[in-house]
Amino acid sequence: MTTPVRASDTPFAVDVEQGKDYWWCSCGQSKAQPFCDGSHKAAGVFAPVKFSAEVTSTVYFCGCKATGHQPLCDGSHKKAV
Ligand code: FES
Ligand code: FES
Repeated sequence: MTTPVRASDTPFAVDVEQGKDYWWCSCGQSKAQPFCDGSHKAAGVFAPVKFSAEVTSTVYFCGCKATGHQPLCDGSHKKAV
């Protein structure tokens, strides 16, 4: 498996807390979207992407896993698949 699973057709809005680290799932296999739950280890190709919150805010994490700006949504989910 070298292509990530499209976990969602839209981004996940998450309220992040300043100073905390978050691990975004890049493989799409996690059951705890948009974050990694260790499921990527079965395929061994993907690794989670760290997001460090610099401010407390709402962040839109990519759910389609096709973003060019990991781990955030860049609008790529709107392209035809
Ligand atoms: Fe997807 Fe860890 S479960 S990157
Ligand atoms: Fe992936 Fe928007 S949800 S680019």
